[in-house]
Amino acid sequence: MFLAAPKPEQLDRQVINNSIPIDLFKAIADLKKDLNAVILAHYYQDPDLQDIADYIGDSLGLSQAAANCQADVIVFLGVHFMAETAKILNPHKLVLLPDLDAGCSLADSCPPDRFAQFKADHPDHLVISYINCSAEIKALSDIICTSANAVAIVNQIPKDQPIIFAPDRNLGRYVIEQTGREMLLWDGACMVHEIFSERKLVELKLSYPNAEIIAHPECEANVLRHADFIGSTTGLLKYVQQSDRQEFIVVTESGVIHQMQKATPFKKFIPAPPNSNCACNECPYMRLNTLEKVYLTMKNRSPEIILNEQIRQAALKPMQRMLEMSV
Ligand code: 13P
Ligand code: SF4
Repeated sequence: MFLAAPKPEQLDRQVINNSIPIDLFKAIADLKKDLNAVILAHYYQDPDLQDIADYIGDSLGLSQAAANCQADVIVFLGVHFMAETAKILNPHKLVLLPDLDAGCSLADSCPPDRFAQFKADHPDHLVISYINCSAEIKALSDIICTSANAVAIVNQIPKDQPIIFAPDRNLGRYVIEQTGREMLLWDGACMVHEIFSERKLVELKLSYPNAEIIAHPECEANVLRHADFIGSTTGLLKYVQQSDRQEFIVVTESGVIHQMQKATPFKKFIPAPPNSNCACNECPYMRLNTLEKVYLTMKNRSPEIILNEQIRQAALKPMQRMLEMSV
């Protein structure tokens, strides 16, 4: 039987697989020193990946960490738009993402050509875009926001200034409710937060009557109306630490529960179920990153994020406005 020669990346995998037991945690720690790298991770990463990170945060915290990073290499454990944001803010660093296919359904729901036309149709509008979008969309925006600062940023805009809010219609609707501002919404959404089941959430609350429901603002309005607290991932994590309740139903990607459990080991966290038969809701893009891929990425210094310089500079301006408005 003819066997094709393995590709270089397959050889790498064989080296790992043949060297069992390989201590990937130690190998990654050694590479981190060699590369003078920092590992930034989002809360939706697999718990093993959160445990190797130097910094874990929400999109705002990760942007601030990337902007202030002094290391030579940023290993980004998150999705593409997050690593891209790190490169926009800190272009002289080598920014590595373990799997370039780690995209985002919300970012994909806003194609730049259609958005440019939408913007051109409303020339008097200020464009505020949620950070979960591509560099091209950031370049078309006036200000970027995250789920942690969207309400505060919109509140700083003069009342007579019309606003386009993109790409998440659910976060946009939530911001409209909180600020009382009219905004023109782009019709995008996150597949993970859209599939939470209101019926199953209500049933879960009947089983855990003392639990507080905490939710991310990317969820739909019919789910958010049951929430006792709504916030970014960092907001949710802080909330469970200061609440005197012992049980929480968590309506966001279940990866965030890892840090909640570490911070408050005696509290109980119940992931809210999606419409499918699964018990919890994981982002298929976030979960493409694995320990093995992190090791290979650091070893090969690839794949890295490369950006068109013109787009990067245009995307930097609204990012800087966000950081200035968030202090
Ligand atoms: P935050 O961590 O900023 O709340 O964002 C959640 C999210 O969906 C990231 O993809
Ligand atoms: Fe995108 Fe939703 Fe996954 Fe976040 S959870 S990366 S918004 S698809």
